Amino acid sequence: MTVSTTTNVLYNTENHQQPLLMIPGPIQYDQSVLDLAGAQTLSHTSPQFIKEFGNVLNLIPKIFKAESESQAFIINGSGTLGWDIAIANFCQKGDLIFLPNTGYFSDSVVNCAEVYEISVYQVKAKHIGDTVSIQEFKEGLYKCNPRMVILTHVDTSTAVLNDIESMCAAVREIHPNTMICIDGVCSIGGERFEMQKIGCDIALCCSQKALGESFSCVCSDLYMIK
Ligand SMILES: Cc1ncc(COP(=O)(O)O)c(C=O)c1O
Repeated sequence: MTVSTTTNVLYNTENHQQPLLMIPGPIQYDQSVLDLAGAQTLSHTSPQFIKEFGNVLNLIPKIFKAESESQAFIINGSGTLGWDIAIANFCQKGDLIFLPNTGYFSDSVVNCAEVYEISVYQVKAKHIGDTVSIQEFKEGLYKCNPRMVILTHVDTSTAVLNDIESMCAAVREIHPNTMICIDGVCSIGGERFEMQKIGCDIALCCSQKALGESFSCVCSDLYMIK
């Protein structure tokens, strides 16, 4: 990283023409990633593509620290598509989703669920930048019987980092059969995330932040797929 003496702007060392972007995402890619992204298209049935795509599918559960049995899906889309996939495939009209609301990205999950006529029981953080306490979270859980709990690990809009470990433990204690889906768009690859250890069923991530490539991915416990 270098600093221009005339403009005081930070520059990326890879390419001194580009001011350094210091936001959670979209991020600037490493030149080696850009070079690969600019490579010629492979046939989707070629042995090389099958091998490379298979390797990526096998590596994603390792990044998510998921069970070796879990299944990763790579989708050419955004983080929003990740929620859509989780909700559309695992819930149906009339179901209830439980959600601690910590900002804009929690609101957006609610909008996505409502498109499918799925209602959302929300426990809202009191002020912008606050988390929902475990006590409030548990009180909310006792008041409903959700099909799915959706947790935003880091809500980018407020920088709130939710204690997903305690939240998942509370769900397992109060509603052992409820699915847990975690939005890790702003956390996976950056914050500690251990899907198997915390007992999360579906985790989604997108690559314009810590993972740094251009796809969206969803990792699911194999039991959920069956
Ligand atoms: C925490 C979080 N979830 C979901 C999204 C939605 O991702 P996208 O904008 O790629 O649809 C974002 C986007 O920044 C995000 O920060």
